[in-house]
Amino acid sequence: MKTIKTQVGIIGAGPAGLTLAHWLKKHGIEAVIIEHRSREYIQGRVRAGLLEQNTVDILKKLGLADRLVKEGQEHHGVYLNFDGKRVRVPFGQLTGGRNITIYGQQEVVKDLTEAWLAQSGQLLFEAPALELEGIETDSPKIHFEHNGEKGIVECDFIAACDGFHGLGRKSMPKDAYKEYSVTYPFSWLGILAHVAPSSEELIYAYHERGFALHSLRSEKVSRLYIQVENDDHVDNWSDEQIWEELSVRLGTEGWKLNSGPIFERSITPMRSYFIDNMQHGRLFLAGDAAHIVPPTGGKGLNLAVADVKHLVDGFRDFYEKASMQVLDNYSTIALKRIWRAQDFSNFMTTLFHKQYEHGSFHYQLQKAKFDYIQLSEAYATTIAENYVGLPFESFDALD
Ligand code: PHB
Repeated sequence: MKTIKTQVGIIGAGPAGLTLAHWLKKHGIEAVIIEHRSREYIQGRVRAGLLEQNTVDILKKLGLADRLVKEGQEHHGVYLNFDGKRVRVPFGQLTGGRNITIYGQQEVVKDLTEAWLAQSGQLLFEAPALELEGIETDSPKIHFEHNGEKGIVECDFIAACDGFHGLGRKSMPKDAYKEYSVTYPFSWLGILAHVAPSSEELIYAYHERGFALHSLRSEKVSRLYIQVENDDHVDNWSDEQIWEELSVRLGTEGWKLNSGPIFERSITPMRSYFIDNMQHGRLFLAGDAAHIVPPTGGKGLNLAVADVKHLVDGFRDFYEKASMQVLDNYSTIALKRIWRAQDFSNFMTTLFHKQYEHGSFHYQLQKAKFDYIQLSEAYATTIAENYVGLPFESFDALD
């Protein structure tokens, strides 16, 4: 039986777990990560690629942004399409110079994993957590398995960064939290294609035939999505059909979509989910373990990193001042941003997806919102400031 002693035992080597480990180390707090999957798997997992200003600033501060700065693309605005009409929401002038950066989530995971291992950080791959013990005591334990052998992480705190299906949330007593969940009646078919992006900035589109999104990964790789039915399957779509659909839905006068070989395709369901308590005793949840947002607006990874910021504040308070005050306030602080992101993700999802009959009452509400973006700088600012992400201090004013 292998026993590992550390201060913070982290389950999950996704963006939340890896950022937490690095950030704690910077403040002299020891952490060990155990990850269910293999390194290849987590580095190959294709996810959204939108980093808010806060996230980029944090990764820079942690010295983890060298490749991100070189290869990521800073965007100063976003295009919004409705029924073939396109408007641009500029970020710079509406948000006092805050921006987003496009850089694939799996690239972030690659960079953070490499840097962690290069510093001799402890990280066990293919080590599923089996059971959490003593989360209501001062010495909780993570029971895990690795190479067919059982092991234990003995720690002061457990940070469950183990995703929606992870053990973390399942280990909280059912009566310790309330659950909120909405499943949308549509999904996204996402593709990666070897083709130069057809737009230098992202395009979100409402069309009679459904939502579409144009994003990108590099000068040679485009990332695109279309709204499909929940029971649809990637095999139902030929490359030609996907390009045709994207071209119609994203279309606007004088603009042409480049097409090219598709090398990755998958279907993502759309869901809003969260629980109203992210702590039980010495167990803390971060990222998808505690909340899921639909990808319209790209908030998932950014919320995970924001959770980590509040956790680090809490762990520093504990190890530097022997106080649990900040940690015990973790849920309250983190949930303010989570609620905001839930609202914004729901807003973007509702605005751009085809859920109701074209021309119906709800369609007219969608159109009225789109028109209002063009009429009102205040409304455009609301979208811009949520999209680039509100600064941490913004939430201090709330009780
Ligand atoms: C992506 O680039 O994958 C992406 C960008 C913005 C979103 C969702 C996904 O809202």
